[in-house]
Amino acid sequence: MLVTQQPVLRRFWYPVIPMSALETGPQAFTLLKTPLVLWLNELGQPCAVLDRCCHRSAQLSKGVVCNGHIRCPYHGWEFDGSGTCVKVPQLTDNFIPPTYKVEGFRCQERYGYVWVALADPLTDIPEISEVADPRFRQIHQFYEVWKCAGLRLMENSFDNAHPHFVHQQSFGVISEPVPPDLDSLEELEYGLRATSVLPVFNSDLQKQNLRMSEDRTVRILEGTWFMPFGRKLKITYPNGLIHIIFTGAAPIDDQTSQVVQFCLRNDSEAEVSAESIIAFDRQVTLEDQWVLESTDYDVPLDIKVEQHMFTDKPGIVMRRKLAALLKAHGEVEARRSRDPEPTPMVGQTQKRGRSSPPWV
Ligand code: FES
Ligand code: CO
Repeated sequence: MLVTQQPVLRRFWYPVIPMSALETGPQAFTLLKTPLVLWLNELGQPCAVLDRCCHRSAQLSKGVVCNGHIRCPYHGWEFDGSGTCVKVPQLTDNFIPPTYKVEGFRCQERYGYVWVALADPLTDIPEISEVADPRFRQIHQFYEVWKCAGLRLMENSFDNAHPHFVHQQSFGVISEPVPPDLDSLEELEYGLRATSVLPVFNSDLQKQNLRMSEDRTVRILEGTWFMPFGRKLKITYPNGLIHIIFTGAAPIDDQTSQVVQFCLRNDSEAEVSAESIIAFDRQVTLEDQWVLESTDYDVPLDIKVEQHMFTDKPGIVMRRKLAALLKAHGEVEARRSRDPEPTPMVGQTQKRGRSSPPWV
């Protein structure tokens, strides 16, 4: 699936940038190949409009914010959050033709991030109830570009076969490659929920973060997929510690995703520092990124195209649900031309990611 060629994917909310990044001025972001300028209005609310002035096409993100409006750097026209031109410094009669406008998009703040929907949203922003729960603290973790499709990232999160290989340095057990089957898999209207119990290894950093001395433990997992590219992974440990990770993969273009990740913990900074928690999750995400950036961004929704095993059930459900979504909206899955791409050789893989695993 080529995400930029499926208009229905414009009808979802994506986290695109931390709110704090807008405090210093307007920022540019590309969502599904659509260039946006983001800024804060006079009420401190985020706004998103097309990053192209309707006068001579300059990038509005090179401008400044004036009285809550974005001011074009070229001739100073000002636009509000709906994209309506509200000031033209050269026109002294105060009449602004109604055609002076740029396209505006739905935009709101949630969980400390700016969320944007390019077209009428089919669902709400994913509900992460623990953010408002005083028993949990929220830790902002990562905001970075990955050269991979959001769907690869989503199904990876529900794939209990990969940790024993990809995460063998952090929590996988390569001598035990067969994970237990899922305990449950529930389809949601726009997503899925899966539960399982995964035996894992405790590296030294993990022992410190879990306040556990044993070499082995289990992760009691509840994963929720929010179509198309959001997931919440709730990990409960036998000692009562809960570690929840939210990851959003906002599609920049067909090949690239903006990864946004924060976590929630029911412990305190005095017990385990945020720095230590981020360090462990950093190791895990680097391990995932290393392999995911080697995968094909054109993820086939037709399950006959790639091969599967029993641990791939959530990914198969995701593909089926996305295929059904396209069909329900009258779309056909767009695929890249089937001309084979040259396979990069070892040592020539810089364009698609690191050539050696992150622990080397
Ligand atoms: Fe924006 Fe002229 S190009 S005001
Ligand atoms: Co992983």
